[in-house]
Amino acid sequence: MKAAFYDRQGNAKDVLQVGALADPAPGPGEVRVFVRVSSVNPTDLKARAGYGGAPMAFPRIIPHQDGAGIIDAVGEGVSETRVGERVWIYEAQAGRPSGTAAQYTVVPAERAVPLPDNVSFEIGACLGIPALTAHRCLFADGDIRGKRVLVQGGAGAVGTAAILLAKWAGAWVATTISRPEQADVARNAGADLIINRRTDDIPTVVMMATGGGGVDRIVEVDLAANIQTDLSCIATNGVISSYAAADAKEAVALPALRAMLKAVLVRFVFVYSVPGDAKKTAVEALTACLQAGAYNPAIAARYPLDQIAAAHEAQESGKLIGKVLVTAE
Ligand SMILES: NC(=O)c1ccc[n+]([C@@H]2O[C@H](COP(=O)([O-])OP(=O)(O)OC[C@H]3O[C@@H](n4cnc5c(N)ncnc54)[C@H](OP(=O)(O)O)[C@@H]3O)[C@@H](O)[C@H]2O)c1
Repeated sequence: MKAAFYDRQGNAKDVLQVGALADPAPGPGEVRVFVRVSSVNPTDLKARAGYGGAPMAFPRIIPHQDGAGIIDAVGEGVSETRVGERVWIYEAQAGRPSGTAAQYTVVPAERAVPLPDNVSFEIGACLGIPALTAHRCLFADGDIRGKRVLVQGGAGAVGTAAILLAKWAGAWVATTISRPEQADVARNAGADLIINRRTDDIPTVVMMATGGGGVDRIVEVDLAANIQTDLSCIATNGVISSYAAADAKEAVALPALRAMLKAVLVRFVFVYSVPGDAKKTAVEALTACLQAGAYNPAIAARYPLDQIAAAHEAQESGKLIGKVLVTAE
């Protein structure tokens, strides 16, 4: 099969190769997927670059956790009826050497989730990490129907996923952006209130819009930078879900008294550590959201597999708004 891979960590152009590798075969409990679309996430870049000093997990890695395609073979213990199923894939490369940046990938059967007929492979490839992370941030502490949510950085992949899922679930959603182009993405995702974090005073706008009550949940992309703002915006007994750190050694200066007086819960979310039952619940919720036609993330760029290094560089630039996709053909 044709695949992208790297044998050492480094810059995209220096280490990513594209070539012919042996077709993988599914083992017990696994399925093989003919990948139609793969997508790039920051986690793929960090693994490739050796972020935080993390070493190569395997001697050779086919990158990318997320993708979508068609099951074309199943291993022992998996029903033959799954052959031909359209699926979206999550965590293809978690604890395994072979991700979705290839014509075929093999994953544990539960990581290949049926893709509703009304949903394209492109959207399927956007789900994985952003959608599962956003779901955990929003729902780990209970239902959000009728609640108020603030999504910091709503034009990011996780941020947009959070807006889409929160709106689908019946919440009121405010979000922050930094550029007019980002506002379009947040608006298309359904945000009720869009706040420019460069020019607006976020707490003033949020408090006015919520009648002084504040928001029940904050989905936070940069806790260290935004903790003061978050504490001004959060409602009493609210939850701040933090899923990212700007750098590996980041420390957060948490004003303990302010947090205590509002009885705030600060939850940290790491998608790979979400408990199995919560992940199952998230997959079911995402399926319902997809069936309702309510999951439409922005797609920024598409690259052929041969140009995977350019796809990684595009994601790394931070300039694109929306998901970067890679296709094997
Ligand atoms: N914990 C987990 O399990 C998990 C899961 C997924 C992703 N992540 C991490 O989360 C981060 C974002 O991932 P992503 O895929 O969503 O990336 P992305 O698509 O590049 O989005 C990042 C967004 O965050 C915004 N942003 C940056 N600093 C901000 C700030 N101080 N306040 C508000 N918004 C800010 C950016 O806007 P500007 O362009 O205006 O800066 C951008 O829209 C990455 O570091 C990734 O590794 C962690």
